Parts: sequence; C-alpha cells; structure tokens
Amino acid sequence: MFKTIRRKLPWGHYRFIATVIAHSFRANGEITATRSDSRSTWIRKCSTQSSKMVMARKYVLVNYFVNEAKPTDLKLVEVELPSLQNGEYLVEAEYLSVDPYMRPYVRELPLGVTMIGTQVAKIVESKNPAFPVGKRIVGNLGWRTHTIIDPKISDQFFKQNPYLLPDIDDLPPSLGLGMLGMPGNTAYFGLLEICKPKSGETIVISGAAGAVGSHVGQIAKILGLNVIGICGSDEKCKWLTEEMGFDFAINYKTVPVSARLREVAPQGVDCYFDNVGGDIAGTVMYQMNLYGRVAVCGSISSYDAKSLPKCTILQPAILLNQLKVEGFIVKRWLDRWNEGIMQNLRWIREGKLRYRETVTKGFENMFDAFIGMMRGENIGKAIVQI
Ligand SMILES: NC(=O)c1ccc[n+]([C@@H]2O[C@H](COP(=O)([O-])OP(=O)(O)OC[C@H]3O[C@@H](n4cnc5c(N)ncnc54)[C@H](OP(=O)(O)O)[C@@H]3O)[C@@H](O)[C@H]2O)c1
Repeated sequence: MFKTIRRKLPWGHYRFIATVIAHSFRANGEITATRSDSRSTWIRKCSTQSSKMVMARKYVLVNYFVNEAKPTDLKLVEVELPSLQNGEYLVEAEYLSVDPYMRPYVRELPLGVTMIGTQVAKIVESKNPAFPVGKRIVGNLGWRTHTIIDPKISDQFFKQNPYLLPDIDDLPPSLGLGMLGMPGNTAYFGLLEICKPKSGETIVISGAAGAVGSHVGQIAKILGLNVIGICGSDEKCKWLTEEMGFDFAINYKTVPVSARLREVAPQGVDCYFDNVGGDIAGTVMYQMNLYGRVAVCGSISSYDAKSLPKCTILQPAILLNQLKVEGFIVKRWLDRWNEGIMQNLRWIREGKLRYRETVTKGFENMFDAFIGMMRGENIGKAIVQI
C-alpha cells in the first residue's frame, strides 16, 4: 500500500513523499490492544477453537520528534498476531539496534507506523524451509518483539529484506547489528570507496568512539594510516588511543579542535570521515591537504535541530585544496553486502578489529537507549538486549 504525504522539511521546504506502508513482514491482520504496560514477551495460548495466539509488543510513532525526541512521541502497544500462512515464519527479537538515522528518517514516515529499526531475531516458528526454526535473521522490522515475515513482500523503505545471520560461531549475534551489519559495512565501504586511503596518509574521524567511527579508525590502522579521532569525552579518547590503536584523540567538548589538530597533524589531513557535520567538519576541512578526500557519512550535530544551523563556509577549503567531498548511504553497496560482512569477520577473527557494545537491557528501555546514544552515552555500538 502506498500513501502520498506532503511533508515540511525542517528547513522550510515542502516535499511530497510516496510512503510505503508495506514491509517485508506481515502487519495486516494484527489486532492492536491499547495496553502499554505489558511485561510479557510472547504468549502462546491454546484453546479448542484457536490453536495459537502470539502477542507482540511494538512502539508506534504518535508524534514527530521536535528537537530532542520525547518518550511520549512513541507509544508501546500490544498486538495479537495472526497464525502463519505457507511461506511465512515468525521471529522473536533478541537484540535491537538504536541508530542516529532513526532521528532524521522518522520525518519521512506517517504517524502511526511502527518505529523503524533493525533487529537480530530468532526464528521460533516457520512454514518456510529456507528459514528454519532456531536460525537467526537480521531484519529491518522496527521496534517490536515478534514479527511474522513473508519473504515474498519486499521492503520498499530500507530496500533490504531480512537475511539469515551468517555463521559467526562463538561471536555475539548482536554483532549483526554492528561490526557485522549496517554500521560495519558503512565503515568498510565508506572508508575504502569514498576516502580511498593510502598507507602513510593521515585520516581524521569524527564521532570516533561510536559504532561506525571506532570501526573506521581500526580499518585505517590496518591499512597503515595515521589515525586521529574526535569524540565527546576523555574516557572515549582514552579508549580510542589505548585500546583501539588510534594515534591521537581529541575531546571536542573540552579542547579547541582546530589548535589541537594542528599540533597532532602538522603534516595536514588527507582523509576526513565525517560522522557529525557542523563546526567540527568545517574545522577539519580547513586543515586538509591538496586532493584530500571527505566521506560525508552523517551529520548528527544537526539531527535534533529544527532548522539547519549556520556554520563555516566550506567552499574556499574545498576549492583551494581541490578536495573531493562525497556523501554516501551504505545501501549503495547492497550488492556487495556480504563482502563487507565477511571481510570484517575475517579481521575480527585475526584480532585486527575489536568491538565494544553499550548494551541496555529490556524492550521497555528502548527509548532510553535511543536517547542515550543520541546524547553520546554509548561507547561502540548501542544495542538493546531483550
Ligand atoms: N551514510 C550512511 O549510510 C550511514 C550509516 C550508518 C551511520 N551513519 C551516520 O554515522 C554517524 C555515526 O553513526 P553510529 O551508528 O556510529 O552512531 P554512534 O557514533 O555510535 O553514536 C552517535 C554518537 O554521536 C555523537 N554525537 C551526538 N551528538 C553530537 C554532536 N552534536 N556533535 C558531535 N557528535 C555528536 C555521540 O558521541 P560523542 O560523545 O562523541 O559526542 C554519540 O555517541 C551518524 O551521523 C549516522 O547518521 C551513516
């Protein structure tokens, strides 16, 4: 089902969006209850009339976020799932991801939808031999505990249907949401394909202690670069330099970035992996070398803003040093998705990539985990464990 909506963009323009309501999972037939305090995970009841009943909990968007998201912008509801049809399978969420993209992407969704997000879920019932009970999938199913998936229905929003979590043996399945999933592939393809780094060069990474940033820095070290991270606390700086192998780290909240960068990179910057945008991006780009490359991965410093903030004009830096500045969305490399996962898995196995997760326990704490990540409380990947 498609719905066309007229949406005011935060900086005052309007745009028409064909919003796709259909997902690769089957939401039709769900019966929504207004209970908001259920602590049950999933419930199967047997009776002589109906053999099975599964209750799922999910968060629906009831208000658009204004500045920082509020808990009342989402509502926790309980829905009864229909029984499985041939070809379908039922999954139970084990780990859910909270990611910065959720903040800006929500603007493109109609009110009433399930809050968007990816999860690692276990197949608990199946009428599809390709998705047997006991296997795990990674899917953009949203903030919900249980989902019936019909593989025949394409996910038009994320353009990626649920896939089986690759065999990762003893590694935590939650890595499917981090290093071995979307953020890991963002680091891999964004660095290699956009920055095109060369051994001996200097790279600066903002948002350096997060899921993507800490991964980019480690790959850059594998490739022989001089790596400088920018992040928001001394604890994060210490972690980057003492455990992640970064050469230098700058706490942008306490240290003047421009002056400190000149000290630690007197040779100038060849690559900038930008996760935050804004003033930090401007500062770094004015210290770049001739033919420097900038990968614009994210601009989290503006995600909560109602209108785009004013910041330094960048054209002189781009022009005089002939910089190449390129934005990218990781889904550009959907056709190479497995390549990224497998290379990152190899590096983990070889001990060249280290991972860290900030885990929040409990589906009822999804919102706190999300807002905590947006405020910088996470080190490495922010995850919710059910
Ligand atoms: N292009 C793509 O396809 C793609 C894919 C994935 C992610 N991304 C982008 O990559 C960036 C990082 O994503 P992630 O999943 O790895 O998140 P993350 O870095 O694990 O978490 C977000 C971090 O952003 C930092 N932050 C928050 N507000 C900030 C501000 N005003 N200025 C500077 N830093 C701020 C916080 O760390 P501090 O303590 O350091 O402030 C926070 O921990 C985001 O911008 C995201 O949108 C893009």
